[in-house]
Amino acid sequence: MTRLLHISASPRGTASESLAIATTFLDAYREAHPGDTVDHYDLWDGTLPEFGPAGAGAKMTVFGGASPEGAQHHAWAAARAVFDRFDSYDRYLFSVPMWNAGVPYVLKQFIDVISQPGWVFGFDPEQGYTGLLQGKKAAVVYTSAVYGPGRAPSFGADFQSTFFNDWLSWAGITESTAIEFRPNLATSDPETSRRQAHAQAREEGKRF
Ligand SMILES: Cc1cc2nc3c(=O)[nH]c(=O)nc-3n(C[C@H](O)[C@H](O)[C@H](O)COP(=O)(O)O)c2cc1C
Repeated sequence: MTRLLHISASPRGTASESLAIATTFLDAYREAHPGDTVDHYDLWDGTLPEFGPAGAGAKMTVFGGASPEGAQHHAWAAARAVFDRFDSYDRYLFSVPMWNAGVPYVLKQFIDVISQPGWVFGFDPEQGYTGLLQGKKAAVVYTSAVYGPGRAPSFGADFQSTFFNDWLSWAGITESTAIEFRPNLATSDPETSRRQAHAQAREEGKRF
């Protein structure tokens, strides 16, 4: 049985465009795959551990070939629990708003917590990185309200999808699809592009 995890990075609840599009995707997915497990990880639910002095220290201890101890051991175990939960799924739906041209900091925190040597990536001094998340696939809902492709540079730049798509493929998730809702408030009715984004989410959800 396939297991799908929806990881959401918007704290805006019923006002969130990315959560609404993700819900459309998941409704279609559940209808097409009634036996599958579908779970939700809200990155704002308060359970994501910090990755500060003890976590960064543990990472460098592990890179040096030793075992983290004390506070480092606890930080490493907390990070491992988040990774194990994540790794127990085969498919991921990420809903990702644009915040200040990038991703909300909780999503970056999630990435910093789980992206560890031997879990998400391997490293060789001559060959560089290898992504270890093999055999998985992802769909990503991207939203923004000012930036959009083809708009003047004064409407901002995209370090959201570029950063996150790069992380997915760096981690080994090379099969991914994106649904974008970036209404052009100056020239178009947001309802038309909202409908298009939901229609795409329905199709992608069925096929995923
Ligand atoms: C903290 C914050 C920062 C934002 N920064 C940008 C931005 O840099 N560029 C942009 O186009 N929209 C920006 N927005 C608008 C959001 O991307 C837009 O409202 C989007 O719909 C948010 O996704 P959500 O509706 O799922 O929360 C920002 C919104 C917030 C709350």
